[in-house]
Amino acid sequence: MDTRVPDRSLAGRVALITGGTGGIGMSTAVGMARRGAEVTVTGRDPERGREAVRRIAEAAGVAPGTVRLRIADLGVLDDVRRLADEVLADAPRLHMLVNNAGVNNGTRRTTPDGLEENLAVNAVAPVLLTRLLHGRLAESAEAGRSSRVVLVSSSAHKMIRRAADALGDPQAEAAPYVAMTAYARSKLIALMAGFALARELRNSPVTVTAVDPGPADTSMTRSMDRTFLPPAMRAGWALYYRLGPARRSADTAALSTLTAAASAELEGRTGLYLDTRGRPARTSSASRDEQAHRAALALLDGLGVDTVRP
Ligand SMILES: NC(=O)c1ccc[n+]([C@@H]2O[C@H](COP(=O)([O-])OP(=O)(O)OC[C@H]3O[C@@H](n4cnc5c(N)ncnc54)[C@H](OP(=O)(O)O)[C@@H]3O)[C@@H](O)[C@H]2O)c1
Repeated sequence: MDTRVPDRSLAGRVALITGGTGGIGMSTAVGMARRGAEVTVTGRDPERGREAVRRIAEAAGVAPGTVRLRIADLGVLDDVRRLADEVLADAPRLHMLVNNAGVNNGTRRTTPDGLEENLAVNAVAPVLLTRLLHGRLAESAEAGRSSRVVLVSSSAHKMIRRAADALGDPQAEAAPYVAMTAYARSKLIALMAGFALARELRNSPVTVTAVDPGPADTSMTRSMDRTFLPPAMRAGWALYYRLGPARRSADTAALSTLTAAASAELEGRTGLYLDTRGRPARTSSASRDEQAHRAALALLDGLGVDTVRP
């Protein structure tokens, strides 16, 4: 685990980490559990999930059974709602929600709700889950210690030059489908909505922080190849991969999330974007338009909160 992460105790703090069964989410879970947090991770597959919580507890040096598992497919709106209901029923306190689960699909896929899957998992689910759990997060805040929502973003959002490019085709319907473009759009929409949420919730004791984990060697990046990129960028894939994901571990990439969740210096600060080293940073100019932030949040609220499954 990266030692540059602020070593603030998380004893007594309760955390929910989506997509904590592998990759950066699993490293985040280890880092939080090691600092004393009561950690619950989510994943889709019970067997994989059970093995993941066993490994997290072992790596964190906490008793087996201390790290909990919840099963939910965050690409299914009813599952997101059920997950929130279960957390509200079982967890009287919740201090940290880490919206980490993410996908980057090589081909266009739709969810049972008819949403393009990058958009559903990377953008709709984090906003819906945050909305559904905000009350519990707010009630759990203590004097001088806000509850925290972390949104795991990506520098890929910078690929999209204008907010309108993302908001104009959020479901990646325009042909041809280019995986990295659809992923980057979903990340830009989620980031802009995160900024709007931070502003909306600024008078509540809940902060919202977006983080860039940076490239990491995970199942997501291992599943990618040059065809994920727009044709003009494909020649650079092998070099990017060698210098980027292949050289960085998930543990290193968890640094920015752990900083957002644990740093005392960030107490009470909301609407920040942390770079790969956990330092507040500027995002792309396309992501800094407040009107687009409101449009992104309205879009995701419309698709999530206001969508009743057919
Ligand atoms: N790796 C990178 O280079 C990189 C760079 C920038 C940003 N990020 C972001 O970092 C986050 C973590 O990525 P990663 O590289 O660690 O990915 P990963 O290794 O593929 O892990 C993804 C996690 O998300 C879960 N997940 C995937 N689809 C899900 C769904 N539909 N419902 C519920 N859970 C789902 C997976 O759980 P199950 O499979 O067990 O369900 C797994 O725990 C993502 O938001 C990603 O966009 C990654």
